[in-house]
Amino acid sequence: LHVAVLMGGWSSERPVSLMSGEGVAKALESKGHKVTRIDMDPEVALRLAETKPDVVFNALHGAPGEDGTVQGMMDLMGLTYTHSGLATSVIAIDKELTKQALVPHGIPMPGGRVVKCAEIHERDPLPRPYVLKPVNEGSSVGVAIVTDEGNYGNPVSPQAKGPWQEFDELLAEPYIRGRELTTAVIGGPKTGERALLVTELKPKSGFYDFDSKYTDGMTEHVCPAEIPDEIAQACKDLALRSHQLLGCRGTSRADFRWDDTQGIEGLFLLEVNTQPGMTPLSLVPEQARACGMEYPELVEAIIAEALA
Ligand code: DAL
Ligand code: MG
Repeated sequence: LHVAVLMGGWSSERPVSLMSGEGVAKALESKGHKVTRIDMDPEVALRLAETKPDVVFNALHGAPGEDGTVQGMMDLMGLTYTHSGLATSVIAIDKELTKQALVPHGIPMPGGRVVKCAEIHERDPLPRPYVLKPVNEGSSVGVAIVTDEGNYGNPVSPQAKGPWQEFDELLAEPYIRGRELTTAVIGGPKTGERALLVTELKPKSGFYDFDSKYTDGMTEHVCPAEIPDEIAQACKDLALRSHQLLGCRGTSRADFRWDDTQGIEGLFLLEVNTQPGMTPLSLVPEQARACGMEYPELVEAIIAEALA
């Protein structure tokens, strides 16, 4: 196959995407495929038209590669591409739209609401502890946990420096104490879907933020997670159902928080990632390997759904 690997771009996750894309490109070359690496810029349509690949492997993270924009462009051009399509991407990149899509189907997600950045300076939008996060970023960019200890002032003072400052609007959600879990799903409606495993992330300090995600040794990954069967099964069921309800393709990764003092009632889906990381420290490749699927086979499985 001739595969164009789309990577880079200009989102805050550009460096992560370059790592994902390079990993994918090398894996495809190791399998004998022809690869064209394309660093996405506003001229990307021209380059794709010249390249004429059999399939585009989308290794972009963040907007506009994960929010439907690039997907719509490729639809218009008649290109075959991996991962989710336009409508799914528009919904899944937005954590609030994802709730509106999934909660009516019984998927447990934290409450909370969207607030203007200025509002958090006047009053706490929720009882502490709560989480402030941009609605549509990845890799924990812009996420802050506001605690009872008043780490940013009480209420958050206008002078407080925090990662939310780049964003006009934020999602405020109750902070769920306890454990960080994640489950990958592989496949789609054409090749069939299956949830892989549950990984528990144990950051050595703080929470599972950008540095903990991409610095080797900063987070312990326990895979499979040492949790009761009932919780592991629930994660897999919720990840699979969410993948199907949103119409995901190729792969997705569902991230959870579990308050282990509350049993199954304490399990909440935080979000579904339609362009999960494919870096050496990323979770989908790790779970695939634990299931006996090496990285190059994972890449080919994602492509198989696109070509089916
Ligand atoms: N947003 C990053 C790449 C992830 O979900 O893995
Ligand atoms: Mg994410």
